[in-house]
Amino acid sequence: MKTLVILSSILGERSHSKQLADHMVARAKQADPAAVVTVRDIGAEPLPYFDGATAGALFTPADVRSVEQQRIVERSDALVAELMRADRIVFAVPVYNFNLPAQFKTYLDHVARAGVTFRYTPEGVPEGLVKGKQVFVLTARGGKAEGTPNDTMTPYLRQMLGFLGMNEVTFIAAEGMAMGEVAALEGVALARQRIDALDLAPARGALQAA
Ligand SMILES: Cc1cc2nc3c(=O)[nH]c(=O)nc-3n(C[C@H](O)[C@H](O)[C@H](O)COP(=O)(O)O)c2cc1C
Repeated sequence: MKTLVILSSILGERSHSKQLADHMVARAKQADPAAVVTVRDIGAEPLPYFDGATAGALFTPADVRSVEQQRIVERSDALVAELMRADRIVFAVPVYNFNLPAQFKTYLDHVARAGVTFRYTPEGVPEGLVKGKQVFVLTARGGKAEGTPNDTMTPYLRQMLGFLGMNEVTFIAAEGMAMGEVAALEGVALARQRIDALDLAPARGALQAA
């Protein structure tokens, strides 16, 4: 079972979403000691914004790309290949200003590739191509918003990940991280309990992929 972890906090080891991801990886390794885990920390090593040069490189036919354009396409291809290879994907996403960090939005911009990670059917219906994955979004936020209109991040991520084919996504939030020590400890403990209750046995991923 191959697991890809995408970290996106700017807080490094102090990140609560990273701590949840670490906990999930530890649990997954208990369930499957042979699990292969790849970690990409885009908070520590941000990707460049998806800009005109990036779009231009992707739209330029391979045989006429400049060296710089080739480098840009190779980076994008590597991110997509890493995503496609994974059986299980864990996105650790802090809430910044009511939504996802710019670093994580940039990651999504890079992996949303027409004809590669999504396509349109002849009828014009979008079809996500990142299929058969077990997907988790582990979030942390300073306040409490889960299940309320103040949680503007979850609906966006549901839509965006679903567009790419990741339709079954489990969201687990550690809330109250900025509401005092007791609330923060409670928020993390609750999120960890929810992770502990997950079935992370490798067979589940295989079943989903079938
Ligand atoms: C720039 C910034 C913006 C934030 N905006 C929000 C917010 O809109 N809502 C909220 O509940 N918490 C907000 N917070 C608090 C973070 O969500 C909280 O610190 C959380 O633990 C971040 O996840 P992390 O620990 O994995 O970095 C913000 C924090 C920062 C640094």
